[in-house]
Amino acid sequence: MPVAHLNGTEIHFRDAGSAKDAVLLLHAFPLNSGMWSRQIAALEKRHRVVAIDYRGLGKSGVAPEATTMDVIAEDVRAVLAHLRIERVAVAGLSMGGYVSFELYRRAPALFRGLVLCDTKAAADTEEGKAMREQFARTTLEKGLGWVSDEMIPKLLKPSPDPAVAKEVRHLIAAGTPAGVAAAQRGMARRPDSTPTLAKIACPTLVIVGEQDGLTPPAESEKMAKAIPGAKLARIPKAGHLANLENPDAFEAAMVPFLDKLPA
Ligand code: MLT
Repeated sequence: MPVAHLNGTEIHFRDAGSAKDAVLLLHAFPLNSGMWSRQIAALEKRHRVVAIDYRGLGKSGVAPEATTMDVIAEDVRAVLAHLRIERVAVAGLSMGGYVSFELYRRAPALFRGLVLCDTKAAADTEEGKAMREQFARTTLEKGLGWVSDEMIPKLLKPSPDPAVAKEVRHLIAAGTPAGVAAAQRGMARRPDSTPTLAKIACPTLVIVGEQDGLTPPAESEKMAKAIPGAKLARIPKAGHLANLENPDAFEAAMVPFLDKLPA
């Protein structure tokens, strides 16, 4: 996996395919770019596909006290500049969606298109913020095994495929407790992105797992209606991590959308 020293730390990323049309994949919490392996394989023949590990998750270095969406958006911009990519289609799942909103506010001209998967625009409630702080503290105390036990039932559909649950546990184990805690604290500080939705001017697809309990389909329907011209795809037999739980249906929705985007 390539690594670049950018913004004062090491950012690890995947860079596959050599086509001119670039696609950037932004991962969920508390995973890393490895969650996109199957989609990278599906896309790399016709696109250049870049996927980064956020600080403290996967292989990337130094997690500050809070990894805010601003910090990640600037890391993403630095990686794209490092790779000399000027325009890109961005697909973000859950936390990756939060990063996509921040990136859009900072650099709308970068976007050829946008895929928002299993995510939401609203900021946390005060109660939600307090829960994230508690989660961060318990992570530092109990470690990543506890994080997996806590998160997997929420990330996957009821009665999940054991192979998918194992893969998610493996992805979570690649992070660090400090990185996971910092990501939780960073998400708690994210602003409300609802006012951003009407301003999104690139082609947009919203994807949601039909059994997503964390960011339910009703939330995605609202989001798709608020983005001019956005389309919505519902993925059957999938929870929050729709790309891992039903990759065939997920790719059947995402790949043709990306294929048709202008360069
Ligand atoms: C994710 O999947 O990225 C997280 O569930 C997002 C969150 O905790 O809000």
